[in-house]
Amino acid sequence: MSERRRTIPAIREAKRSAGAIPLTMVTAYDEPTARLADLGGVDMLLVGDSMGNVVLGYEDTLQVTIEIMADHVGAVARAKPEALVIGDLPWMSYHVSIEEAVRSAAALIRAGAGAVKLEGGARRAAVVSAIVDAEIPVMGHLGLTPQSVHAMGGYKVQGRRSADADLLLEASELLEAAGCFALVVEGVPDAVGAAMTRARSIPTIGIGAGPGTDGQVLVLHDLAGLSKGRSPKFVRRYAEAGELITGAVAAYVADVRNGDFPGPAETYGASEELAAHLDN
Ligand code: KIV
Repeated sequence: MSERRRTIPAIREAKRSAGAIPLTMVTAYDEPTARLADLGGVDMLLVGDSMGNVVLGYEDTLQVTIEIMADHVGAVARAKPEALVIGDLPWMSYHVSIEEAVRSAAALIRAGAGAVKLEGGARRAAVVSAIVDAEIPVMGHLGLTPQSVHAMGGYKVQGRRSADADLLLEASELLEAAGCFALVVEGVPDAVGAAMTRARSIPTIGIGAGPGTDGQVLVLHDLAGLSKGRSPKFVRRYAEAGELITGAVAAYVADVRNGDFPGPAETYGASEELAAHLDN
C-alpha cells in the first residue's frame, strides 16, 4: 500500500495531473468506525455533519450543532488514526460572524481535528481566509451543499447549465485564493468535476462528481451497507454490513431463546465448594 497522505502539505500537492494517485476520504463519526476505516488505509477521515441523517436520525444536517460536532470529532480523534481527521463546520457555526466562525473552527481543532471543512462558494471566501489566518487548514465544499437544502429546493445535482457551471468554477477559484487546501465537489456532472480539477492547483475530492477529480469521498455507512433505503446513484456498496449485524443479532436472540447461550465458554464457573454452599 502506498504511504498515506495525511499532512496538509502532502494533500495540497496531491494533484493527479502531477502524477499523484487519487486521494481517498470516508466519513467517521465515532471511535469504532474511525478505527475500522483507518485500518482500510484511507488518507482522510471526515467527521461530517452528515451524521445528522446517517446516525442521529434527522431528516437533514441542519440540526447538528458545533457542540455535537466537537463531541464526535473527539471520539474519532481518540481512535488515534493515521489518517488526517477533518471536522465539518455545521450550519450556523460560521454564518453569523467571522469571529464566531474562527471560534467554531478552533473548537473542532481543540477537539482533535487537523483541519475543518465548510460549505459554500463566493460568500464564504472571507470566512475561509479568516480561519486560515488563524492557522487552521480549511477544506471547501461546492456543488450540492446539503446545508443549503432549502435554498436549493432539495438535494439536486448542481451546475447542469453552462452559467451555473461557470459560477461553480468561479467559486472554486475564490476558495483557492482564500486559502483552501482542497475542495470537496458534490453532486455535479462529471464534466464540471473534471473542469474544476483542471482549473485548480489544489486537489478536488469528488462525491457524485465523476471520475475526473483528484480524489473521492463516500459516507462510510453507504459504502459498508449500513444505510437505510435506496443509495444515491453515486454510491458503490462494498459490503452488506447491515445484513451481517442483523444476522448476528438474530442468531443471538435464537441462542438465548433455545438455551444455547450462554454456554460454558461464556460462563464464570464457581468452585465446587461455592457451588455446594449455594446448593444448600
Ligand atoms: O457531511 C458529510 O459527510 C460531507 C460529505 C458527504 C462530503 O460533507
